[in-house]
Amino acid sequence: MDLLDVMHSTGTCRYYKQDPVDDEVLARVLDAARWAPSGGNRQPVSLVAIRERATKERLQALYLPFWDAYVAGIGEGKVRVGSRDSRILEAADHFALHLAEIPVLVCVCARLADVHPTDTDLGRLSIVGGASVYPAVQNVLLAARAAGLGSALTTLLCAVEPEVKRLLEIPDDVSTAAMLALGWPARPFPKKLNRRPLAEMAYSEKFGRPLGG
Ligand SMILES: Cc1cc2nc3c(=O)[nH]c(=O)nc-3n(C[C@H](O)[C@H](O)[C@H](O)COP(=O)(O)O)c2cc1C
Repeated sequence: MDLLDVMHSTGTCRYYKQDPVDDEVLARVLDAARWAPSGGNRQPVSLVAIRERATKERLQALYLPFWDAYVAGIGEGKVRVGSRDSRILEAADHFALHLAEIPVLVCVCARLADVHPTDTDLGRLSIVGGASVYPAVQNVLLAARAAGLGSALTTLLCAVEPEVKRLLEIPDDVSTAAMLALGWPARPFPKKLNRRPLAEMAYSEKFGRPLGG
C-alpha cells in the first residue's frame, strides 16, 4: 500500500472480528515501533502484547469507569441523535463494552529516565517527553493498517497506571503511555478521516500566515 493511503485510512477501529492475530503478523506490526526516532536515540519504549482473556477483562474493568465518566462529562442531550458525534460516541461505547474481546491489547510503556524533555522549566505542561514515545505508537498504527489490521490508540488507562503496572508486572521505573487495540476490523477502513484542512494547520514563515502554493 502507498504510505499516504495508509495514513489517510488509519482511523480508530472500534469494531473487531474475533479472529486471532497470528504471532508472525503481530511481531511484524510491533517491530515497526523500533524504527521510530527518540531523543538521543535512547529508545525508551517497550510494548506488552496482551491476549489472555482474564487480563483483558481486568483491563476492561479498569477502563469502563473512566469511559463512563468521560461520557457523563460530555453531558446528556449535547450530542444530537443521528449526528456524526453520536455515531462516534456509539462506536466508542461499543469499543469500551467489548474491550476484552479484542484479540490483542498492547500496553505501550516508556522508561522515563530515557526520555529527554527539554521543556520542563517553562511553567506549563511538558510535551516534549512524549515525542520520544508516540512516534513509535504511530508506527505501530500505520504498520497495523498496512497489514490489514484495525487499531485504536487509547490513553484512559494511564489514569490507573499503578493498577495496570501491577497487572502486567511492569517495573517501577517504567511508565504507561497508551493502550492499543489490534485486530481484524469488522467494518471497512475509513475512506476519509475527519481532519482539519491543511490551510487551518500549516502556515508559512509566521503562525497564521497562509501557506499558499
Ligand atoms: C491521545 C489520544 C488518546 C485517545 N484515547 C482514547 C480512548 O481512551 N478511548 C477511545 O475510544 N479513543 C481514544 N482515542 C482515539 C480518538 O478518539 C480518535 O483518534 C479521534 O476521535 C479521531 O478518530 P479517527 O482516528 O477515527 O479519525 C485517543 C486518541 C488519542 C490521540
